[in-house]
Amino acid sequence: MTQHLRTQVAIIGGGPSGLLLGQLLGLQGIDTLILERQTRAHVLSRIRAGVLETGTVDVLRRAGCADRLEREGFIHHGTMISCDDDQFRIDFEALTGQSVTVYGQTEVTRDLYDARDTLGHPTLHEVGDVAIHDVETDTPAVHLTHGGRKVQITCDYVVGCDGYHGVSRQTIPGDKRQEFEKVYPFGWLGVLSETPPVEDELLYASSARGFALCSMRNENLSRYYIQCPAKTTAEAWSDAAFWEELQRRLPQDVAARLITGTTVEKSVAQLRSFVVEPMQWGRLFLCGDAAHIVPPTGAKGLNTAVGDVHYLSDALIQRYADGCTKALEGYSATALARVWKAERFSWWMTSLLHHVPAQSSFDTRMQTAEIAFLRANRAAQTVLAQNYVGLPF
Ligand code: APR
Ligand code: PHB
Repeated sequence: MTQHLRTQVAIIGGGPSGLLLGQLLGLQGIDTLILERQTRAHVLSRIRAGVLETGTVDVLRRAGCADRLEREGFIHHGTMISCDDDQFRIDFEALTGQSVTVYGQTEVTRDLYDARDTLGHPTLHEVGDVAIHDVETDTPAVHLTHGGRKVQITCDYVVGCDGYHGVSRQTIPGDKRQEFEKVYPFGWLGVLSETPPVEDELLYASSARGFALCSMRNENLSRYYIQCPAKTTAEAWSDAAFWEELQRRLPQDVAARLITGTTVEKSVAQLRSFVVEPMQWGRLFLCGDAAHIVPPTGAKGLNTAVGDVHYLSDALIQRYADGCTKALEGYSATALARVWKAERFSWWMTSLLHHVPAQSSFDTRMQTAEIAFLRANRAAQTVLAQNYVGLPF
């Protein structure tokens, strides 16, 4: 027995992109149905980055989802950068007049799920066999299984918010889509520890032993990362080994202040840059990780996804308000213009601060010289700050 459902916008993926899009459309009275492969608890168990651009906070505020973020988030007016034992600060406020907010992506996702509960629009969890049909017609459809039953959804539009491993990107014919990818020969080993952060702001550390990052979630929950070989497994690293390696990559005065403890989460992330063009095909649109991936160095993953959702929600709201589809037709070009700038910044910051295994001594000198120039040059620091706090939509 097949269940037939109807909605205006079918959204595949109940992560930040799908939830935020559903919220912005729902507030304008546009019906959405979110299809999520996992349980809500599983989605909320993911540990992701926690730096929100000014523009991201504005969009979350417009979505009515920023109350807790404004209460519990931490405003950061700058960040520290170190090279071996030397460190300096990039003053976002002085250079751009803007700041960033440190607030875990898991909490953003939790706030978005709570907002969807209030909105009362449907979300189907633990769906399977999602297949997208007829996107080149005016009556696209999504077929799936849910609760042991076949479900067929008819809709006006389908939006793929199903991440890098989702199905929506593959719906664009292979000869019509172009994929751009760079896989980095290293990963990030990250831990969460119930310890006070070592600094008040983030510290991006470059050292001959590799990159390290000191971040945080709150005054008693710290997030640390060290660059690791691509095939590293979290199980291969004891807490003691992690702390020892982290300290060896930090300036000595910082390492001496580091408060270590038992980690409550340990995981390895592979680093890649990826973009698919176009980000739309017929009545299918892609947002977030479904269309692009960045290395986490510039904290651009969620923020770039929010940019996509900002553009697409505006375009869909206009279409349902007055029938004009101009912005919808231009969505891919508009979104990609900002995506590629985020890709460039993330690639640049990753290349600047990480030591590629067996890189040449010349390449190492180039990194050292670029960090020295950044340390001394206000214009160079302004470029970093403008990209970090977020380029305009
Ligand atoms: N059917 C239904 N849901 C799916 C399918 C599928 N075939 N494939 C994947 N999903 C779900 C995943 O379970 C996940 O919850 O789509 C969701 C995609 O969420 P994310 O991967 O978090 O991507 P996005 O919402 O675009 O958020 C981007 O999340 O991964 C981080 O670094 C990334 O910060 C960025 C942000
Ligand atoms: C994090 O807090 O997890 C984080 C912060 C900044 C980054 C990456 C990750 O660039």
